[in-house]
Amino acid sequence: MKEMEKLNITKSRELFEEAMTLVPGGVLGARKPGDFIDGEYPIFIESGQGCRLIDVDGNEFIDYLCGYGPIILGYREEEVDDAVYKQIKDKGFCFTLTQKYQNLLAKKLTELVPSAELSIFLKTGSDATTAGIRIARAYTNKLKVMRCGYHGWHDWCVEMKGGIPSKFYEDVFEFQYNDLDQLEVLMAAHGDDTAAIIMTPFGHPNHKKMQTPGPGFLEGVRKIADQYGAVLIYDEIRTCFRLSMGGAQKLYGVTPDLTVLGKAMANGYPISVVTGKKDVMMAAAHKLFISSTFFPNSDAFVAALKTIEIMEREDVLGNIWEKGARFMGQIQALLDKHDVGAELTGVAPMFYITFAKDETGAYKGKRTDFYTQLIRRGFFFTPYHHAYISYRHTEKDLELTLNAIDESLAYVEQKYS
Ligand SMILES: Cc1ncc(COP(=O)(O)O)c(C=O)c1O
Repeated sequence: MKEMEKLNITKSRELFEEAMTLVPGGVLGARKPGDFIDGEYPIFIESGQGCRLIDVDGNEFIDYLCGYGPIILGYREEEVDDAVYKQIKDKGFCFTLTQKYQNLLAKKLTELVPSAELSIFLKTGSDATTAGIRIARAYTNKLKVMRCGYHGWHDWCVEMKGGIPSKFYEDVFEFQYNDLDQLEVLMAAHGDDTAAIIMTPFGHPNHKKMQTPGPGFLEGVRKIADQYGAVLIYDEIRTCFRLSMGGAQKLYGVTPDLTVLGKAMANGYPISVVTGKKDVMMAAAHKLFISSTFFPNSDAFVAALKTIEIMEREDVLGNIWEKGARFMGQIQALLDKHDVGAELTGVAPMFYITFAKDETGAYKGKRTDFYTQLIRRGFFFTPYHHAYISYRHTEKDLELTLNAIDESLAYVEQKYS
């Protein structure tokens, strides 16, 4: 299989050179070239439509990152954007006081998400996870936190500890997804002082294979939380409105006390939520202060209401599960055909192709080559994050993608044989 030619990313590189003089590191966090394959991927995007992206050099891609999760329908989804324009033009969206949309959205969440009784609306996933922890601490008058998964960039949970006094995270303990024994040991030591267990109910650890809950895992965590009086928080920032309208909790039938959600709810507009059982959530009204200038802005509420309306009307998640399950089956057949140590994990709406570690470390080269061949063919995945599919991926898009995966695997197979 022939090696594809490198993309022309000259303008991206020029903009990045300039950005290095303007923004520390050029671009922030998980947008950095090191989070993709440096020198192969574009760094600046020009536009998007449906499931397609165009970078500043004019390269076109079929996208599987979906803005790191919020794009559930597609880029520039007209009905959602029109609802927001109308709101901005007819009524305005940034006021001192709250507009009525918070009530409408809170009601909708109560209908859809099993744990939702009262909701607080914020902007980012990190806002919501941090608010959830603060509410749990206020409610229980306890300090310690057990955590499982990525919960954002705030002091208590971020991996890179630069600039954070250790006292801000020293009461936070990590356990691995599907490892109930580990949580049991931690709780035996700290359970009486534990305010919250926060976890992703579906396993999507950074850079690692994805995991569905093993038999009894979610039920076991629920039981441990109850046994010690800890607040169980599901971090459904990625999974709510993606695995089901009511999140992974609805899919797997285990209900937490609090839930944080956001990403897919508003098809890209910034809004997140901490929602949950009334008695726990009421701690937020009496004992602590959660407020920000932009939290009540109605543009994102309107986007969320419209996105949910479309998702319900058109059974968007039914469509994604159906085509995604077929797509995953077809990818698996290609991985079986080409013996390169690639593995597929996840569920239809979010899945990941990783490479099994080997003693020589050759898997790293295979991984880089595979994803390099894909991006050069115009398919936007990254080695360091799982993929998503959106409503606007058509059967044709998926077919083109399968073809590119087949060719990229064949290239790797040939190179390493
Ligand atoms: C599960 C989960 N929790 C929290 C966050 C943090 O969200 P944000 O990046 O909007 O602060 C993310 C972001 O990727 C996430 O995936």
